[in-house]
Amino acid sequence: MKRQLHLNLFIHSRGHHEASWRHPATSPLPLTDIRYYQDLAQRAEAAKFDSIFLADQLALGGDVAQAARTWLEPLTVLAAVAVATQRIGLIATCSTTYTEPFNLARQFASIDHISNGRAAWNIVTSWLAAAAANFGGEGQVSHADRYARGEEFMAVVKALWDSWAEDAVLDDRASGQYAKPDRIRSVNHRGDFYKVEGPLNLPRCPQGRPVLVQAGSSDTGRRFAARHAEAVFTAHMAKETAQEFYADLKRLAAAEGRDPSQVLILPGLSPMIGSTEAEAQRLVRETNDLTDPEVGRKRLSNRFGGADFSHLPLDRPLAPDDFPDPGTVQAARSRTEVILNLVRRDKPTLRQLLGYLAGARGHYVTAGTPEQIADLMADWFTDGAADGFNVMPPLLPLQLDVFSREVIPILRRRGLFRDEYEGTTLREHYGLAWPESAFERAAPRSERQSA
Ligand SMILES: Cc1cc2nc3c(=O)[nH]c(=O)nc-3n(C[C@H](O)[C@H](O)[C@H](O)COP(=O)(O)O)c2cc1C
Repeated sequence: MKRQLHLNLFIHSRGHHEASWRHPATSPLPLTDIRYYQDLAQRAEAAKFDSIFLADQLALGGDVAQAARTWLEPLTVLAAVAVATQRIGLIATCSTTYTEPFNLARQFASIDHISNGRAAWNIVTSWLAAAAANFGGEGQVSHADRYARGEEFMAVVKALWDSWAEDAVLDDRASGQYAKPDRIRSVNHRGDFYKVEGPLNLPRCPQGRPVLVQAGSSDTGRRFAARHAEAVFTAHMAKETAQEFYADLKRLAAAEGRDPSQVLILPGLSPMIGSTEAEAQRLVRETNDLTDPEVGRKRLSNRFGGADFSHLPLDRPLAPDDFPDPGTVQAARSRTEVILNLVRRDKPTLRQLLGYLAGARGHYVTAGTPEQIADLMADWFTDGAADGFNVMPPLLPLQLDVFSREVIPILRRRGLFRDEYEGTTLREHYGLAWPESAFERAAPRSERQSA
């Protein structure tokens, strides 16, 4: 079959544009109302998206006075969305720095059971400095230490997910045997950061393991993705950097002994779609007019680990010297590089830069007709920049519906996107292999034969 695009809906506030929450055409529901998330997931499922995704930060943003984010805890939301949908994949963010592996393995396995094999974990190390103050207050864990801890975390959760053989549960009322103890094993992990005896107190989940998603883009982040991720989110402001990232990550995955086709690369795309270019541009202007540059200035400071930009005038062209060296930033280093590349290339004023970032925080923002958006997606997909997209509608649900109604049929006509779901699990939607269980690898030969 012809290679197919994968589409994920990234749900954020009432849309990805910073001012979406104020826009009169976005959802009237409170962001704490579960029906908002269930409704969006159902709309995405009707359009046959592969998955939905919820991001997460472990601290209240400093800009709460003028910025509306997604408020509910993502795993809790996924449980409620799982029972309101049948097929669409469900991705939630959880931190390796501020969660215990046992809790996390159990929670995602539970979501995988609840959804019959549709769960995925977006692995993050938590770049936001303010999060540290909510977990012991020792100060932000450095970029290198976050990834070192993350690496050991992965070994523990994978071992926990593999601690039950697939056939461990008998649930046999007649014989009185619920489970086979010899098909459940401790993990016995003793490492630098974690000591975990195991096994997990939950049977193996429908997908074997939840799908693993990651979005690190620094050198360390890419190597981490190459070892663990099955889908990778990434932010680019130009096709060329997306191509560079795509080639690099596929190469790194191959160097780890993995099949590169089993690591999907999904760059962010935030399209404002109108029936004509003029209408799309009018919607962009109308939404931009609702933004406040001082909110953007605070967000930019957050991105650069709290750097002070208060002295920068709004209307002078920026230079790289106006920013701290990304190498010294302990937050999301790669996104600071994305921003600096734009400053080097376009020399925007601070007002222009903030206007661009208001669209989707450094992801690819574009405005145009359905045909133009479909052309762009097909071009990135066939020209080594993407295996699909992390679709980030600027206004929700309005621009999701326009995308589903107008862009997806064009992609279908070109044979690039499914008409119907073929499988029931997220692994099947993404075309991912079933994970081999360490349980069977570790089993003594005699035990394997009798199993
Ligand atoms: C689409 C996307 C979603 C992300 N979601 C989160 C998130 O929910 N929480 C978080 O702490 N970081 C999130 N990140 C940040 C990444 O996990 C990572 O820290 C960042 O891309 C920088 O990579 P680096 O740490 O390798 O420099 C996201 C990144 C992208 C591209």
